[in-house]
This record gives sequence, structure tokens and C-alpha cells, in this order.
Amino acid sequence: MSTIDDKATEVPEDAAGESAETVPPEQEKEEVAEKKEINKGLVIFVFIAAFVASLIVGWILFPMVLYTQENQPIDFNHALHLEEVENSCESCHFFREDGSYAGVPKLAQCVDCHDEVMGDDPDELAFVENYVQKNIEVPWLIYSQQSDCVFFSHAAHVKAAKMDCVSCHGDIGESTSLKVYEKNIITGISRDIWGKNIGGIKLHSWDRMKMNDCAKCHKEETGNQGACFQCHK
Ligand code: HEC
Ligand code: HEC
Ligand code: HEC
Ligand code: HEC
Ligand code: HEC
Repeated sequence: MSTIDDKATEVPEDAAGESAETVPPEQEKEEVAEKKEINKGLVIFVFIAAFVASLIVGWILFPMVLYTQENQPIDFNHALHLEEVENSCESCHFFREDGSYAGVPKLAQCVDCHDEVMGDDPDELAFVENYVQKNIEVPWLIYSQQSDCVFFSHAAHVKAAKMDCVSCHGDIGESTSLKVYEKNIITGISRDIWGKNIGGIKLHSWDRMKMNDCAKCHKEETGNQGACFQCHK
């Protein structure tokens, strides 16, 4: 409003008395239209700014608050050990006689080689001093650990369905270093279950392992996503 009023009072001065009193209707219309343009621009700008701000909060700040980062007790080098054990995952991750999966290796599986320090690697030194010599199990953090209500069987997937470790775990087995473990402070579950990408985009089969991801593969592979009690016992 004020711009139009200002113009109206200013006109007599510069127009020196001619056509003094009123602004021509044409000009007035143009000014109103111009003002509407400015308003529209402002609305769009505020909308985009708020949108970007909420993306930053949702995708960057919220995950920073939701997840705490924890380092593994010892940084384990898979690639180095695969050379020592002739490229076999089973020498450390094996099936027990009853078909259950042993999972992460126990200290007993390491001590044959590590009863004393072999090289000058600080991780090996820390491992031998803090765990082997004190006979304490290493409290490894499990990236793929599901909540207690979930039943999972490696035998069904690895033995029966002949699936590759990589399709669910990614390339941890070939890595030279363990990644940082991110824990959800509300559920206590690793971020690997819900996935890094808050937007839900999944580039690899191992990026996320929520209920729908299990069910989706079951549907594809067996034509049936399964009853609740298959995965919840
Ligand atoms: C010398 C023993 C050893 C060998 C051989 C070995 N691993 Fe491991 N693996 C470990 C240890 C120790 C951990 C515990 C670190 C951790 O919590 O991630 C581990 C962890 C893992 C995990 C992470 C599980 C999780 O969710 O935290 C995967 C997956 C894995 N190994 C796959 C493999 C694959 C695949 C191979 C063969 C290519 C292999 N490993 C060979 C010792 C071994
Ligand atoms: C077949 C023998 C063998 C077995 C079994 C074995 N290691 Fe090793 N490990 C080695 C050798 C060899 C090295 C290299 C030593 C060096 O040069 O420092 C090594 C290095 C390491 C290191 C230092 C390098 C790194 O990974 O960051 C750690 C830590 C380690 N081992 C932990 C373990 C744990 C934990 C287990 C049991 C799950 C295990 N090792 C089982 C042979 C073995
Ligand atoms: C179909 C997907 C799938 C495949 C294939 C698979 N895993 Fe797993 N793995 C899982 C899930 C899910 C868990 C968590 C299980 C739980 O929380 O009870 C897990 C847990 C683990 C753990 C940690 C267990 C623990 O708590 O000590 C290790 C180690 C592991 N897997 C290694 C392997 C290896 C090695 C292979 C290949 C031989 C493999 N997995 C194949 C899905 C899979
Ligand atoms: C990439 C594909 C895939 C993914 C991911 C997957 N599964 Fe499976 N699962 C299968 C296949 C295929 C079978 C059937 C194996 C067979 O032939 O018995 C199966 C079988 C099972 C069985 C055994 C059923 C029975 O009656 O013996 C359970 C339990 C199970 N899955 C739970 C899970 C859970 C929990 C998850 C997620 C954490 C999961 N699966 C993720 C492919 C998958
Ligand atoms: C293929 C395996 C599978 C089947 C079938 C399945 N679930 Fe789940 N469910 C999971 C996994 C894995 C989780 C944990 C990850 C998550 O929260 O998505 C879960 C989580 C849940 C949770 C959340 C529990 C918690 O502690 O966060 C509920 C509730 C649930 N399931 C109910 C059901 C019901 C009801 C059915 C039958 C209609 C069903 N589920 C069938 C695998 C399965």
C-alpha cells in the first residue's frame, strides 16, 4: 500500500502541476501487478528456505542427535587374516554341529596364533595385552544385530538358499579396517538396520535390513513373504 500512496503524493512535485492529482489507472494497475509479483517471489523464497532448513534438520542434525558413534574395541583387519587362513571365512565364522551359526569368533579361535605378539602392529599389541593375556573375550559390536524379537537363521540362507555373505553384509569380509559403529540411542540398535540414508534410498542389498527388506526378498525368492511367526518367535 505505502508505495502507491507515496507515489500519489510525490507525483505533484515532479510533474510540476500538470496532470497533478491522480495517477493514471494504467500505471496503478501495473504497480499492483508488480507488487503481487514481489509477494509471490517472497512466498516462494520463504517456502524454499523452510524446505531446505527442514531437510538439514531431518537429514543431518536429527541423525547426529539420534546416533552415537562407538569404535570397535580392536580394529580388526579381515583382508590381512584371509591371507593367513587361506581365504576361508569358515575358519572363523562357522556352523556348529546343530546347524546354528557361531557368528563372531571367540577368543579361543585366536589364541593359537596370538599366544604372543608377532609383529609391531599397535592393534595386535593391544589385543594380546588386553584380551589374550587376561583371557577376556573381546566385546565386539555387531553391526547386523537385530532386536531380540527377531529370529534369523544363517543355515536357511547360507546353506539352504546358498546366499553370499556380501548380499546381506556388504564387503566387511574383505575390509582392512572396521567401520565406526553407530548406535541408535532410542532403540539401542545399530544404524545398519535402518540404513544410513534417512530418505530411504537403497543402492545396495546390504544398505538396510528392516522387516520390509527381509519380507521383500522372501517374496521375490519364495513367492511368499512368510507368516509373522517365521521371523518372530
Ligand atoms: C581370523 C578370523 C576371521 C576370518 C577368517 C573372517 N572373519 Fe569376519 N570377523 C572376525 C571378527 C573378529 C569379527 C568381529 C568384528 C565385528 O564385530 O565386526 C568379524 C566380523 C565379521 C562380520 C560382521 C558381523 C557384524 O554384523 O558385525 C562379517 C559380515 C564378517 N566378519 C564376514 C566375514 C567374511 C565374509 C569372511 C570371509 C571372506 C570373514 N568374515 C572372515 C574374524 C574373522
Ligand atoms: C592363522 C593365524 C591367525 C589367527 C587364527 C588369528 N590371527 Fe590375528 N594375525 C595373524 C598374523 C600373522 C597377523 C600379523 C601380525 C603382524 O605382523 O603384526 C595378525 C594380526 C592381527 C592384528 C593386528 C592387525 C589388525 O588386524 O589390525 C589383530 C588385532 C589380530 N590379528 C586379531 C586377531 C583376532 C581377534 C583373532 C581371532 C578372531 C585373530 N587375530 C586370529 C594371524 C592370526
Ligand atoms: C540373508 C542375509 C544374510 C546372509 C546371506 C548372511 N548373513 Fe550374517 N547376519 C544376518 C543377520 C540378519 C544377522 C543378525 C542376526 C541376529 O541378530 O540374530 C547376521 C549376523 C552375522 C554375524 C554376527 C553374529 C553374532 O551376533 O555373533 C556374523 C559374524 C555374520 N552374520 C557373518 C556372516 C557370514 C560370514 C555370512 C556368509 C557365510 C553371512 N553372515 C551371511 C544376515 C545375513
Ligand atoms: C536376499 C534375500 C533374503 C533376505 C534379505 C532375507 N531372507 Fe530370509 N530367507 C530367504 C530365502 C531364499 C529363504 C528360504 C531358504 C530355504 O530354502 O529354506 C529364507 C528363509 C528364512 C527363514 C527360515 C524359514 C524356515 O521356515 O526355515 C527365516 C526365519 C528367515 N528367512 C528370516 C529372515 C529375516 C529375519 C531376514 C531379515 C533380517 C531375512 N530372512 C532376510 C531369503 C532372504
Ligand atoms: C521376513 C521376516 C519377518 C516377518 C515375516 C515379519 N517380521 Fe516383523 N520384524 C522383522 C524384523 C527384521 C524386524 C526388526 C527390524 C524393523 O524394525 O523393521 C521386525 C520388527 C517388527 C516389529 C517392531 C518390533 C520392535 O521391537 O521394533 C513388529 C511390531 C513386528 N515386526 C510385527 C510383525 C507382524 C505383526 C508380522 C506378521 C504380519 C511380522 N512382523 C512379520 C522381520 C519380520
